Amino acid sequence: MMKTLIALLSAQVQSAFAAAGFADAAVTVSVSSRPDLCEFQCNGAMPLAKIHRKAPLAIAQEVVAQLASCAVFSEVSAVAPGFINLRVSPAVLSQHLEALRVADKFAAPSPAPRRVVLDYGGPNVAKPLHIGHLRSAIIGESIKRIYRYFGDTVIGDVHLGDWGLQMGLIITALQERQPELPYFDESYAGEYPADAPFTITELEEIYPAASAKSKIDADFAARAHAATYKLQNGVRGYTALWLHIMRVSVADLKKNYENLHVSFDIWMGESDAQPYIAPMLADMEAKGVLTQSEGAQVISVAREDDREELPPCILVKRDGATLYATTDLATLVQRMEDFSPDKVLYLTDKRQSLHFEQVFRAARIAGIVPESTVLQHIGFGTMNGKDGKPFKTREGGVMRLERLISEITQFIAQKIADNQTVSDGGKTAGIIAIAALKYGDLSNLATKDYVFDMERFASFEGNTGPYLLYTIVRIKSILARCGDYAHLQICEADNPAQKALQLTLAQLPEQLQASYRDSAPHVLCAYGYDLAVAVNKFYHETRILSEPDEAKKQSYIALIALAKRALETCIDLLGFEAPDKM
Ligand code: ARG
Repeated sequence: MMKTLIALLSAQVQSAFAAAGFADAAVTVSVSSRPDLCEFQCNGAMPLAKIHRKAPLAIAQEVVAQLASCAVFSEVSAVAPGFINLRVSPAVLSQHLEALRVADKFAAPSPAPRRVVLDYGGPNVAKPLHIGHLRSAIIGESIKRIYRYFGDTVIGDVHLGDWGLQMGLIITALQERQPELPYFDESYAGEYPADAPFTITELEEIYPAASAKSKIDADFAARAHAATYKLQNGVRGYTALWLHIMRVSVADLKKNYENLHVSFDIWMGESDAQPYIAPMLADMEAKGVLTQSEGAQVISVAREDDREELPPCILVKRDGATLYATTDLATLVQRMEDFSPDKVLYLTDKRQSLHFEQVFRAARIAGIVPESTVLQHIGFGTMNGKDGKPFKTREGGVMRLERLISEITQFIAQKIADNQTVSDGGKTAGIIAIAALKYGDLSNLATKDYVFDMERFASFEGNTGPYLLYTIVRIKSILARCGDYAHLQICEADNPAQKALQLTLAQLPEQLQASYRDSAPHVLCAYGYDLAVAVNKFYHETRILSEPDEAKKQSYIALIALAKRALETCIDLLGFEAPDKM
């Protein structure tokens, strides 16, 4: 695989420093922050001034003199107080892009591909998917795709919340409503019905009603706790009901995630960790890492150099109940056994950061996860409404994911209808809506809160998902009139907008690498936007199809075809796709 352009330029400048007598310099070239003055810059002379007792400008001038005959650059100058300004030669740039164009991938695969368990989504069974789970699904799906692009083996686990009190609440509510069902008859020994005694619509009504009731009815709450306990201890009828709840609920979750273009390799959950808990606790006991604290069993995870004291990780409460941390540790036992991953990455709301810090430390102390396996939690911020508070429906309730998607889709469908561009029964509107939603989320640094602004997210102009799609659609419509263009080559730029587009395209490999290195989809959003802007500027300033010089025209076509593939790669890694028209 070829070097990135920036690495190539850095190497050239580095050897010029050496030739000028500054062999000790650590020199890097970066993309210019002043594109009006130069394309690249190197600040390597500045730190050398002290060491060599020489003015930085003098050092820069000596280096520039060495570069004068270097064919890689078309322009090199030293400017006060000691910067080196650079422009790359059009021939070197176009050759570089030609190599990129014919490569099978836009970035070199990781030299040491990893096995990664990615824990994202994290919905709670029988509770509707709401936008709190949206970010986890969207960011996780993108990180999964980015890791795979670089050759990692990624096992995406939805990690269902399928073992908690919500199950006891539903079982208890069902018992009140339909006491005659065989599941509640503990003497019943026959087979249970194959079909669930409820539909997904009923289930979605039962849970919130039961949850509300438990808050005002202490007896009901006590029965729900008892039912949860019985379920967790394997009472037959309850287990059968639980399986019904799981089947109905998981089928619905799958449909929802499919609409979002989010998928998982395994559908495991908290319940799958349960068999690992008892042996794990026994092992911890044997290793002497468990301590008693007010009747509870805990692992103390505080360290001397902690800036704030980290509370101990509680594994078994005084009443014998296990907790969220117990389940997550047992899940790590299972994941090490089943997958021996090099990395386990969790994506949840940042309010769970403390929980994961405790779990990770406890996992090391108990010897569940070796140091060679990286444990990481990416805690993301909240999606807020325009009032700066967590996003709600107009009526003030928790926004369900389905409703959110359908509201954006309708908004965009209306827009398209106004423009009269496509009429395909909402298919295109659906594709654009997903892009609007995902880009709106992913373009922010994950840890930050952001404001959900439908008008802005759905706009076809500006830093939005639809703008990226619009740019791809524009290129597609030009290419549709070009016949077979696959063999056309990218030649030297003959105008500034074309060179600017070539320079932006040349950044693709390093931008992909940065998104991989930092598990950062927002890097690809920012780059995709810059690229789309460069494409549109080129489009507005250049005759493409009507260019009379056939060689130039072919080079233009090859360039926008590469830009299209680059944009498509970015949006695919972000988790959405482009329509043919919009
Ligand atoms: N179900 C949890 C929630 O809704 C998220 C689970 C995240 N994954 C984990 N292994 N703890 O908050």
